[in-house]
Amino acid sequence: MSNDTNTSAATPHNSTFSMMKRIMHSYLRQHVGMLLLAVLFMVVAAAMTASIAKLLQPIMDDVLSAGNTAKIVPFAFIVMCVFIVRGISTYVHTILMNRISQSVVAQVQKDLFAHFLHLDLGFFHANPSGQLISRVVSDVSVMRIAVADIFTNAGKGVFTLIFLVVVMFSQDVKLSIAAFTVFPLLAWFVAYLGKRLRHISRNLQGGMADLSDKLSQIFQGIRQVQAYGMESQEEEHTSAAIDRVRKLNVKSVQVGNLSTPVNEILVGIIFFGIITYGGYQVRDGMMSAGELISFLGAFIMAYEPMKKLAKLNNIMQTGLGAGERVFEMLDTVPAIVGPENGKVWEQGHKPDVVFDDVSFAYETGEDERALSGVSFTAKPGTVTALVGASGSGKTTIINLIPRFYDCIGGAVRVGGIDMKDIDLAFLRQNIALVSQDITIFDDTIGANIGYGLKGASQEDIEKAAQAAAAHDFIMQMPEGYNTRVGEDGMKLSGGQRQRISIARAILRDAPILLLDEATSALDNESEKLVQDALKALEKGRTTLVIAHRLSTVQDADHIIVLNKGKIAEQGSHDALMAHDGIYAKMYTVGLQGA
Ligand SMILES: Nc1ncnc2c1ncn2[C@@H]1O[C@H](COP(=O)(O)OP(=O)(O)OP(=O)(O)O)[C@@H](O)[C@H]1O
Ligand SMILES: [Mg+2]
Repeated sequence: MSNDTNTSAATPHNSTFSMMKRIMHSYLRQHVGMLLLAVLFMVVAAAMTASIAKLLQPIMDDVLSAGNTAKIVPFAFIVMCVFIVRGISTYVHTILMNRISQSVVAQVQKDLFAHFLHLDLGFFHANPSGQLISRVVSDVSVMRIAVADIFTNAGKGVFTLIFLVVVMFSQDVKLSIAAFTVFPLLAWFVAYLGKRLRHISRNLQGGMADLSDKLSQIFQGIRQVQAYGMESQEEEHTSAAIDRVRKLNVKSVQVGNLSTPVNEILVGIIFFGIITYGGYQVRDGMMSAGELISFLGAFIMAYEPMKKLAKLNNIMQTGLGAGERVFEMLDTVPAIVGPENGKVWEQGHKPDVVFDDVSFAYETGEDERALSGVSFTAKPGTVTALVGASGSGKTTIINLIPRFYDCIGGAVRVGGIDMKDIDLAFLRQNIALVSQDITIFDDTIGANIGYGLKGASQEDIEKAAQAAAAHDFIMQMPEGYNTRVGEDGMKLSGGQRQRISIARAILRDAPILLLDEATSALDNESEKLVQDALKALEKGRTTLVIAHRLSTVQDADHIIVLNKGKIAEQGSHDALMAHDGIYAKMYTVGLQGA
């Protein structure tokens, strides 16, 4: 059914908070132990940073100003130890946090891919493969960088800041309050930048997806591009997509780095205030030089995590921009889902296929129906042939049987059960399909045939290839069954691809056999061989075949003639010839053409 209605994304909950909550809730639970350990090391590291600032005061006042030489070495030793502890705990914390964030993102990636595998064909028609690859690879990578950075640095930054603020307040409350008056202003500015960055990031990821989609289409269609001399035009189109990504990247850096000058200016002003006010305080004896130095030290140190947190927010918002696109996909509800506790038929039962007043449209709201009021029965042990002009709906009927789509009116029953009540995996296990557009994977020939049945042995594979008249040509290939065939079977001829796909269906050994133009690319001799093999295969199964050449279907038990999505006539070859309708006309024209 249409993607618009059924495969719509659920309303996304996209506030920063709710998305973070979702990541925590769904993906962090397994890592709680490690997380606590990492936090422990983080607190130690932050406390060490603050104690460096705190130590400045006694060093100034008790040791240097007081001329207490006996304390020089112990203090120096303490400071050294503080640095050592800080170094080690920072390292351990970083390693642990990075481990957690990498597993979180890998899990998101796995979930996303698994989710895609179960979405319906309508979804895949609406979303080209380049776009989907980009979501799994590029969007998730941006998320990966953001999550890793946030996990590693956010807590550390916040804790260090808190400790240092405590140091500052313990030195001088008034001065501290004055120093932090600008803080809300800074926070507002950081939030504003974040919002803009998130928007840019979303657009940027969209641009990347368009680019990879473009590239994948061009590489797949390279023959057409070269044959029609479209290289320079494709170059132009792709340059435009590349430039769009470049511009957004430039903008993202421009906006993101605005926080630096704004930060520096504000801090410069604060410094002016602290030094002026503090200088007079020290002159008047209200404050020791050590206290002022310690306060300034704490402020300088606090300024670092503040800057980092501002940058971190930028990274987080960029990550969330990509995250939105990932969760949008994860929230897409598949239009075709198997029922809970789906029904199955007993083993050995030969299922029939019944279409009962079936209507179907690829797009909802479209007047033109691909099928309307189609009723027929395909009995076990018989061959039902679907014939009719191109676009009359033959493939559409075949598509409904493995539930690639659901009909919008009427019902399809298999083995006496309404299809929507049958366990989906079980239904598909019982079907062998040779589709009109054959898919060959970039793998060995053996693996391509073996795709038909999990755990098939080499012997089974060869037997199936023999039955499909493919064994001989396979043995002539350089490495026989171990020959790799290139992307989409590029190294094979059309007829060879077809025979491999038939061997795959033979291997499956399923009670329902669907053959869509299975022998259209074969020469007369191999077609005869394959036809014989298929005849043997059809015995005892429920078979539906589509063939343009009517000579190949005239032995079928039942012939259904389609015209614009409706059944125009049906019956045996002889009955239809006697009826002298569409079929008789098609048959006569076919004979003349041959
Ligand atoms: N994925 C799709 N989305 C929208 N419309 C589609 C889709 N697939 C097919 N159609 C439309 O449905 C109608 C029936 O197509 P179908 O593929 O069933 O024809 P067919 O009888 O198999 O033709 P052919 O002999 O050329 O293979 C056509 O008008 C076609 O344009
Ligand atoms: Mg077709």
